Amino acid sequence: MSTEAVADIALIGLAVMGQNIILNMNDHGFVVCAYNRTTEKVDKFLANEAKGTNIVGAKSLEEMVAKLKKPRRVMMLVKAGSAVDSFIEQLVPLLEKGDIIIDGGNSEYTDSQRRCKTLSDKGFLFVGCGVSGGEEGARYGPSLMPGGCAGAWPHVKDIFQAISAKVGSDPCCDWVGSDGAGHYVKMVHNGIEYGDMQLICEAYDLMKNGLGLSNDEMSKVFADWNKGELDSFLIEISSEIMAFKDKDGGPLVEKIRDAAGQKGTGKWTAISALDKGMPVTLIGESVFARCLSSLKDERTAASKVFPAPSVDLSKYKSNTKEYIEQIRQALYASKIISYAQGFMLLKEAAKTYNWELNYGSIALMWRGGCIIRSRFLGNIKEAFDKNPSLQNLLMDDFFKNAILSCQVSWRKVIGMAAEIGVPTPAFSCALAFFDGYRSERLPANLIQAQRDYFGAHTYELLSNPGTFIHTNWTGRGGDVSASTYSA
Ligand SMILES: *[C@@H]1O[C@H](CO)[C@@H](O)[C@H](O)[C@H]1NC(C)=O
Ligand SMILES: *[C@@H]1O[C@H](CO)[C@@H](O)[C@H](O)[C@H]1NC(C)=O
Repeated sequence: MSTEAVADIALIGLAVMGQNIILNMNDHGFVVCAYNRTTEKVDKFLANEAKGTNIVGAKSLEEMVAKLKKPRRVMMLVKAGSAVDSFIEQLVPLLEKGDIIIDGGNSEYTDSQRRCKTLSDKGFLFVGCGVSGGEEGARYGPSLMPGGCAGAWPHVKDIFQAISAKVGSDPCCDWVGSDGAGHYVKMVHNGIEYGDMQLICEAYDLMKNGLGLSNDEMSKVFADWNKGELDSFLIEISSEIMAFKDKDGGPLVEKIRDAAGQKGTGKWTAISALDKGMPVTLIGESVFARCLSSLKDERTAASKVFPAPSVDLSKYKSNTKEYIEQIRQALYASKIISYAQGFMLLKEAAKTYNWELNYGSIALMWRGGCIIRSRFLGNIKEAFDKNPSLQNLLMDDFFKNAILSCQVSWRKVIGMAAEIGVPTPAFSCALAFFDGYRSERLPANLIQAQRDYFGAHTYELLSNPGTFIHTNWTGRGGDVSASTYSA
């Protein structure tokens, strides 16, 4: 068989995402070599979806490598975990120094950090690339978040930016940072997605069980919201989901079992936040809300023991227009808190791992193509463009004013939720964070006193920060203090 180096890039893994990325690359004039461990998949793909394109196939990794122009670019879209390591192991002996290995799967950033180091030591260029946007995004423009060995970027930039989603003419793809930065940013994206989804669910719950709106009415509300500040993919699909009818003519969504699944990226974000001591409370609450939802049987039993408070809902139901607007504002304010928290986490991770993250460019990567795409991310980009070293999103004028104008409604909605017994963990924790963040004094002085009282952990005086002292609180204790620690 004659093997000519014809392909610009190879792609391993012909599940839907892989096939769609290949077709997308082909659309943009790149020659792609397709490979799958089950080689019949390659034949099937070439004979069907890829028919009439410039896509070529390979039946072995050797053949695939031989068909690649140099430096060779090999992208994997395979199941995260051991499959990635196994392909890397098989590829290394076939490739040369300077060749590029790209992992476009949903890998943990710590794995990308490890792979980047191992492959750099051998002279290869590793890229861990977050890909978001689902099947549709992969086909017509995903959000791409590549990180790893910076030397790889000039060799993949043209392909990645060509196939990515665009906002105007700006690609939703830029170099994120070294080693695991791309997959870390993708992880935080997914965490924020958990938060956005939970916020929309709480608005839905309040409109349904507080205001008594029908699904068609709620569909209309979401459609209206989608014309303003909340304009986003998730609000848009929520409107369509509300309106979607089952065969019997009733709304399908009401027949779906209320037990949420999860694959782990929200949890990883929350774990990373805990590790780094960052109060990313809204994502954390959103993960826990899914956990609570999945205890369906326990909840069903408890619902018989603890019925909802009996509240006269007529004041809400007779004034739905006003309350819908309040709920919208509560959602918007909470969403701002969630993104502020997400960027706080990114900042801390950048410090820990020495990444030079460009927060404006991350906002742009999320602006289009991905699941959290929204008008709002354009405002975030503007905030970081105006001030790249912005300490916190909340301190930007645009967001400061937005929070101030929503604040009253936000508080009222949480009051209403508490009164009628509709759970709003994300709305509520966002407000609690906001009230904590804007407090010069918190009651943590008492925590310090308690810690010193029972454990001699020492404390600082407001008048003398940095100096830790211990007090003989009881007249019984010794003056030996425990070593200080911060957690
Ligand atoms: C091969 O293709 C199938 C789907 O057709 C996919 O599920 C699988 O992940 C692919 N695997 C590899 C390693 O190429
Ligand atoms: C703590 O206070 C009591 C009562 O004032 C005193 O008897 C004791 O010696 C003190 N302990 C130390 C270690 O100073």
